[in-house]
Amino acid sequence: EESKKIILTESPDLPKAIKSKIGSLVAHRNKRVRVSGWIHRLRQQKDIIFIVLRDGTGYLQVVLTGLTAQIYQALTLTIESSAEFTGELKEVPEGKTAPGGHELVVDYWKLLGESPGGDAAFTNQLNDKTDPSILADLRHLVLRGETASAVLRLRSALLAAFRDTLTSHDLLEVTPPCLVQTSVEGGATLFKLDYYGQPAYLTQSSQLYLETCLPSLGDVFCVQESFRAENSHTRRHLSEYTHLEGELAFITFDDLMTHIETLICETLDKLLANHASAALIKQLNPSFVPPSRPFLRLSYASAIDWLVEHGIKRQEEDEHENGVVDAEGKPVMVDHKLGDDIAEAAERQMTDIIGKPVFLYGFPAELKSFYMKKMTGPDGTKGGYTFTESCDLLMPNVGEIVGGSMRIADMEELFAGYKREGIDPTSYYWFTDQRKYGTCEHGGYGLGVERFLAYLANRYTVRECSLYPRWPGRATP
Ligand code: 4AD
Repeated sequence: EESKKIILTESPDLPKAIKSKIGSLVAHRNKRVRVSGWIHRLRQQKDIIFIVLRDGTGYLQVVLTGLTAQIYQALTLTIESSAEFTGELKEVPEGKTAPGGHELVVDYWKLLGESPGGDAAFTNQLNDKTDPSILADLRHLVLRGETASAVLRLRSALLAAFRDTLTSHDLLEVTPPCLVQTSVEGGATLFKLDYYGQPAYLTQSSQLYLETCLPSLGDVFCVQESFRAENSHTRRHLSEYTHLEGELAFITFDDLMTHIETLICETLDKLLANHASAALIKQLNPSFVPPSRPFLRLSYASAIDWLVEHGIKRQEEDEHENGVVDAEGKPVMVDHKLGDDIAEAAERQMTDIIGKPVFLYGFPAELKSFYMKKMTGPDGTKGGYTFTESCDLLMPNVGEIVGGSMRIADMEELFAGYKREGIDPTSYYWFTDQRKYGTCEHGGYGLGVERFLAYLANRYTVRECSLYPRWPGRATP
């Protein structure tokens, strides 16, 4: 009650304070500064209150002593309240550590927005024991944490570095639409919607649009949301994800894989060369070492042999592609054979054993989309299967992070592809036109940004790598 009577005022005799973000404070040492933020941590030691303040650009130790620690707002201060602090920025004494190497010794402060104490306190909502489904509901609060915010900070640096690398290789950024009327990766995973009385979808991939840009803009890329209505509750599937896609003209399949490898390695080099992003990688994934080049390249056909040799089996499927179980309900496991899809579990085991990035290439046409170019030469067919100039890049701990291919340049071959996949070419007229008006050999790829970030930041699931992740049943917050 006594403390309520104490009123703190800002002394007019002190030097005018410089308003600053925490991240820019070094330049203002030994000056009077004004900083606003949220109370990240709070500790009282006798008559001194130590605060760690957070404003998104960094963390700052704030010290309240004397009158500034005796006012009612100081005694009742809670974590996650917002406040403005003014005082002198001093280097921390020898032997003491604080973020940035300095601390703010406060002469005046005010509470801006209080955060509740007691049962409703922030730490009662959110702590180590909070249930995952509640954590998902409270994603907006989880984001305030040190780990979640570091992942998003690294994500931002990653996107900037990707753009830098791509631009330096003469790819131009474009922004294709999300609302589309064609499918790229098959009808099964399309989100359908009513578009002014017509059927439309949320895009699965911007690839077809990127292909149309080649004759006018040259090589292009985009960073666009893609949507997949996959009922997959796995560590690496989202219903909406950020898709980094590139498309290049007048290249060979070998050029395509080399480009993907260059993109990844140069982007990682940029991140590691930058002090701030290198620190984030160190914080999130201390044992990270960038992959060495060239990446291993393994054909699909030899990968099937590899799986058999290593005893990595797959579940038998019935004619409806449902997993077969035995009398006790246990999955019936069989060896992989040519023509099989290499499913997530097998793929993951393979990458974990190999322990470094690997390009799997040359998948059978039957397993892949209508637009993929067929492989020619003696390795182009085996056991009745025709392989395609397609590749998946697999990374340890995550599995597939990139899918790419050379595209069919020939019109007749494209029509055969539409037919094989049961696609009505009518709505694809604009895509077909690319082959009509000056076709070219070209290829491209799509990289799942959340998957790449899960690899880089060593996250258990892609859900941690998205701002507000969407998966089956989850579109809140
Ligand atoms: O292999 P995908 O389906 O390839 C394409 O969409 C091509 N049209 C891309 C292109 O050539 N331009 O998807 C590419 C990548 C995958 O390797 C994966 O990293 C990511 O997109 N991806 C997903 N990420 C999160 N959740 C999902 N449900 C994903 N589906 C694909």
